[in-house]
Amino acid sequence: MTEATAMTEASPIPAAPTPPAKQHLPDAQTVTQVTHWTDRLFSFRVTRPQSLRFRSGEFVMIGLMGDNGKPLLRAYSIASPAWDEELEFYSIKVPDGPLTSKLQHIQPGDEIILRPKPVGTLVHDALLPGKRLWFLATGTGLAPFASLMREPETYEKYDQIIMMHTCREVAELEYGRQLVESLKDDPLIGEMVGDKLIYYPTTTREPFIRMGRVTDNLSSGKVFADLGLPPMNPAEDRAMVCGSLAFNVDVKAILEGFGLREGANSEPQEFVVEKAFVGDGI
Ligand code: FAD
Ligand code: A2P
Repeated sequence: MTEATAMTEASPIPAAPTPPAKQHLPDAQTVTQVTHWTDRLFSFRVTRPQSLRFRSGEFVMIGLMGDNGKPLLRAYSIASPAWDEELEFYSIKVPDGPLTSKLQHIQPGDEIILRPKPVGTLVHDALLPGKRLWFLATGTGLAPFASLMREPETYEKYDQIIMMHTCREVAELEYGRQLVESLKDDPLIGEMVGDKLIYYPTTTREPFIRMGRVTDNLSSGKVFADLGLPPMNPAEDRAMVCGSLAFNVDVKAILEGFGLREGANSEPQEFVVEKAFVGDGI
């Protein structure tokens, strides 16, 4: 009998407990930054899968593991441009929302699930060449334009880009305001942006320097008068739309009234539309 065996028999040493293996989520990415803008809005950045290629303006499915052990995923526009090393998202907090009631509590170092299959219609390829590009958004519908406003192709293809963003309250504009402000000094695209980007934020339920729905400011002609631009026309103007279904329906009718036609990846035209979320009762 060897000494070791004797020892084991005399005083068995309990096997060292194996440390619990860290549970990696499928398609996991690590949160690097979280910013809360209001009690209903936050943005966050995550690591980018090396293999992920996307066109600025597209969306992906992201989420967390649900209580039932299955991934709980939702569509999210990528708010960062295609050249960024990380991915940024701009999110609503729905108090009893299956995903966002949990997602709003993420911290740097946490993991989220990100399915690397980008899709979407708010891409340059879906529009015919034009002179001016209008980005029309409400609420978190700003997200795809947060990407496209940082995309060099936007400034290569158009002389002027007009970002119309409407929210109920002033604080809800802040993420967009800071982003636009930061573009001037951006070392990568600041020079390209120059004075091409015109920011036209408005509120509807709190006093602000400019007020009114995107739809009202387009159909009354107020935005054209304010900016010294001609009314939209199909020869020069292109538009991308992202908001609630009601907003999208109303804007589409106005754009068609100006003679613009809706396009798609497969058939580029003068404007494209994408829902910022599903389920507003229409
Ligand atoms: P859900 O059960 O999905 O939604 C509950 C209710 O909350 C909805 O019925 C609706 O009334 C309301 N709601 C959901 N999302 C929003 C919103 N964004 N703004 C206002 N009300 C909302 N959401 C984002 O926050 N950022 C994005 O970039 C984004 N991109 C999207 C892109 C596409 C193509 C689509 C279809 C949806 C997108 N959404 C985005 C909505 C997102 O998919 C989820 O609905 C949202 O994260 C809420 O998830 P939830 O599970 O908490 O609640
Ligand atoms: P309003 O305050 O007049 O309803 P919400 O928070 O409900 O998603 O709305 C975000 C912004 O979009 C609000 O300023 C709201 O204006 C505006 N909005 C909502 N529905 C429409 C619509 N059908 N057309 C134009 N703007 C809309």
